[in-house]
Amino acid sequence: MYKNFRKECNEYIKKQSENSEFNSCTNRWVNLSYQFKYMYNYEVLGRPIIQYPQDMVAMQELIWSIKPDLIVETGIAHGGSLILNASMLALLDMVDAIESDKTIYPKASRRKVLGIDIDIRAHNSAAIEAHPMACRIQMIHGSSTAPEIIAQVKDVAKDYQRILVCLDSNHTHEHVLAELEAYTPLVTPCSYCVVFDTIIEDLPDDFFPDRPWSKGNNPKTAVWEFLRNNDRFEVDKEIENKLLITAAPDGYLKCIKD
Ligand SMILES: C[S@@+](CC[C@H](N)C(=O)[O-])C[C@H]1O[C@@H](n2cnc3c(N)ncnc32)[C@H](O)[C@@H]1O
Repeated sequence: MYKNFRKECNEYIKKQSENSEFNSCTNRWVNLSYQFKYMYNYEVLGRPIIQYPQDMVAMQELIWSIKPDLIVETGIAHGGSLILNASMLALLDMVDAIESDKTIYPKASRRKVLGIDIDIRAHNSAAIEAHPMACRIQMIHGSSTAPEIIAQVKDVAKDYQRILVCLDSNHTHEHVLAELEAYTPLVTPCSYCVVFDTIIEDLPDDFFPDRPWSKGNNPKTAVWEFLRNNDRFEVDKEIENKLLITAAPDGYLKCIKD
């Protein structure tokens, strides 16, 4: 039953991804959504997140299928994506407890989200630290491409077996390429490195006049350059074909080798 249902869904996903009218509506919608800062409208368990709901659901699906014990995330902002990912890790802990027939599930957990941000505002870090998910979150203050920060992340990661990485910090080509070089070696086979805001390449050139990124200089161009010299990862097109609305076209990178 489930297999047939999935097969039918996949047929529709293929059709929608090939439909020019659906795709041009989506592009128009995405353009307008950036003008209205639509992705700032949501919260996860009380913390603001800067993402499309579609990408949040995709992260939920990835975390359920990968079952990571560590999620490394660059770009914390208000902490919504940390809380989203930590809450999914809490659910994995709960499932483990249910499956091993424990009536109480552990508050303390080995599973963790490690967030890195160059500018963790005091009010955001206080709210994240006071959140019920805080026991699954560690924050590092500094630039994600600074050698001493990369060394700290690697030191934490050495004790983990299944690692998922999300990049959502400075969106320039140079910065994201440096993050890809630094953090993709941590990603374990069959897991992902999710690169957000690759969509900048598909938006009009004058969209971010006050930002250092633009068409030709953004996370998508960094992904393309990274993939030219790296055969451990490939773009999972199925995810973006399913979502259509996503900030990460060509940004769902699957690790296909040891
Ligand atoms: C788009 S926001 C992150 C949004 C967050 N992931 C979410 O979904 O709610 C980008 C964040 O990247 C941080 N950032 C900018 N440059 C950085 C750098 N070099 N290293 C680490 N973080 C950086 C900013 O301070 C900002 O908080």
